Amino acid sequence: MSSIGARTFAVSPGARIKVTPGTPLSGTVEVPGAKNSVLKLMAACLMADGNFVLSNVPDIEDVVTMSELLSSIGLVIEHHRDTKELHITNNGNLQLFAPYELVERIRASVNVLGPLLGRFGEVRIALPGGDDFGSRPIDMHLRGLTELGAQFEMRHGDIYARAERLHGTNITLDFPSVGATENLLTAAVFAKGSTSIENAAREPEIGDLCNMLVAMGADIEGIGSSTLIVHGVERNALRAVHHTVVADRVQAATYIAAAAITGGEVEVQGAIAGHMEMLLTRFTDMGVVLVEQTDGILVIGPERLKSIDVVTLPYPGIATDYKPLVVAMLSVAEGVGIVTENLYPGRFRYVDELQRLGANIRTDGHHAVVRGEMKLSGAPVRAPDIRAGAALVVAGLVAEGETIISDVHHIDRGYDDLVGRLCALGANITRL
Ligand code: UD1
Repeated sequence: MSSIGARTFAVSPGARIKVTPGTPLSGTVEVPGAKNSVLKLMAACLMADGNFVLSNVPDIEDVVTMSELLSSIGLVIEHHRDTKELHITNNGNLQLFAPYELVERIRASVNVLGPLLGRFGEVRIALPGGDDFGSRPIDMHLRGLTELGAQFEMRHGDIYARAERLHGTNITLDFPSVGATENLLTAAVFAKGSTSIENAAREPEIGDLCNMLVAMGADIEGIGSSTLIVHGVERNALRAVHHTVVADRVQAATYIAAAAITGGEVEVQGAIAGHMEMLLTRFTDMGVVLVEQTDGILVIGPERLKSIDVVTLPYPGIATDYKPLVVAMLSVAEGVGIVTENLYPGRFRYVDELQRLGANIRTDGHHAVVRGEMKLSGAPVRAPDIRAGAALVVAGLVAEGETIISDVHHIDRGYDDLVGRLCALGANITRL
C-alpha cells in the first residue's frame, strides 16, 4: 500500500523512451482503467460522505495530481497500487476551493465545480488556462450552470460560484462537450426538480460516471444517449459506493495500433469493442484483422497498412484522442490519407515530430495530408502531449534505428506502464 503522492516510477522531465524496431508484436496485453473516467469518478466522491472504493484504477500521473487536488479540498485518499484501488474517504469537512497551482496541471480539475456547487451552493475555482493543444474554454459549463441558477464572479483569476439551491431546467448544449456534460450532470443531481441536458456528450466515460452516480442514489435517465434527464435529490441523499473504472479505450487503441503497425498478433484484453466501433471499422479498412472475443479484441496486423481518410468527431465518431495514433499508422501505410480535426484545431503540433522520423505529412488548418512512406527512420523527438507521445512511440516501433522520445512526463500522465506493456509484447523499448 502507498499513500497518495508516492509513485512507483520516477517522473522527471528528463525521462526518455528509447525504441528500436524488432519483430512483430505478439502476446497479450491488459487494458488499464480509463484516465478520462477515473478522474471524474474521483471528483464525484465529493458528492457523498463515507468511504468510496474505486477499482481498476490506472497507475498514471493524472491520478496522483487529481489526488493532490482532492486532498487539498479535504478528501482522504489512499492509492493501493497492488490491488489497483483508490480508497477515498469523504468526512464532509471540505474546503470549497481549487487553487491555480493544481488546476493548471490537470484539465479534469474543473470537474469539481458541478459536485461542490450542487452540494454546497458555493465554490471558488481557479480558471483553467489553455493546454498543450490550445485554448480550452469552459463557457458551456458556466452557461449551463447559470441556467441551473448559479451566479459567477471572476476575481484575481478565480471563479466564485454561488447558488442557494440549483433548480432543474432544460439545457441544450451548443456542442456535446464532455466536461460540460459532466459538470452539468453532477450539479443537476442536487438541483430542485428535474433537468434535461440535450446534445449531451455520450462518451463511455460519461456512462461510467452516470452508473456510479446512480449507484450512489442519483436519479438519471437516458444514460448513454444524447438526452440526459436528471431528477434532483436532496443534498445529503447520496451514499459512498464501490465502483470499477471502465476500460480505457484510448490505451486499448494504442495497443491495437502498435500491433497493427508492426504486423503483429496481439490479444488486447479488456478492450470493449462496443466503445470503439467506428475506430475499429476504420482500422479494418486499413487492413487490420480484428476479432472480438469474450474479454477483449484479437488484433492481426497486415503486411502493410492501407491509407484511409479520417475525420474526428464527438462520440460515437472517431475521438480526437485517437488521431495521433492514426496519423502514425498512415505515415507508413500504402497510399494517401486525409485527416480532419474538428475538435482542437491546434492538435497537429506533433506532426513536426513525426516528420523528424521521415513521415510525409502536410497540414493546412485543421487538415493533414499523410503520404505513406515505405520506411520511417529513427530520430530524437519530443512528446508534445499525452496521445501524441504515445503515437511517437508507436511510430518508433517501425522506424529504422533508434527513436528517442523526450518529455515522457506527458505520456506518464495518461499511460499505465506503456513501456512495460510493449516490452512484454516483444518490443525493443526501454525507459532511459
Ligand atoms: C475531454 C477529454 C479529452 C478529449 C476531449 C474530447 C478528459 C479529462 N479529457 O476533454 O481527452 O480530447 O474530451 O473528446 O476527459 N469547448 C468549448 N467550451 C466549453 C467546453 C468545450 O468551446 O465550455 C470546446 C473545447 O475547446 C474543444 C471542444 O469543445 O474544442 C471539446 O471539448 P470537451 O468535449 O469539453 O473536452 P474536455 O472535456 O475538455
